Amino acid sequence: MTRYEFLKSMGFTGAALMAALTSCVKPEDTYIPVAKLDVNSTTTPTTPVTPVTPTSDLSKITNPLLKIDLTTSNLKNVGAYIIQANIVVAQVSAGAYAAVTNLCSHEPKRKVIYDKNASQFYCTDHGATFDLKGVPLPNSITNRSITAYQVATDGKTLVVY
Ligand code: FES
Repeated sequence: MTRYEFLKSMGFTGAALMAALTSCVKPEDTYIPVAKLDVNSTTTPTTPVTPVTPTSDLSKITNPLLKIDLTTSNLKNVGAYIIQANIVVAQVSAGAYAAVTNLCSHEPKRKVIYDKNASQFYCTDHGATFDLKGVPLPNSITNRSITAYQVATDGKTLVVY
């Protein structure tokens, strides 16, 4: 879809259309990727989830970024996510977790959340989508990954590092 077609479909006409077409135009802006969020999707994520293997010795992890008490956190249910210290942590399947920065790679905005229906990370600003390892999904508005972190748990505590 061209920028012209996109703006026309959004209802821009006349002077407003011309103003929008001539603002912030770069050579690489010929096409506008359309990010799509299918909140009813039941498809499995592009990147298979590797369940975190419980380990009994989290103390061997040096310099953890986060330590989350799973007995009291809001991560008890599959699909739940929290944001702490600008890191989005989600329980992506029973006992398996994924963690990424909430800083989008499209523009430097902290709008990344977890979309449990699509099992992917999602930026609420322009709709960029990322797999569970922070890699942009096909048709995402950006082609740059976001930082993903490793996670480990002993079943009571989740460590992000
Ligand atoms: S800032 Fe995230 S999609 Fe644009």
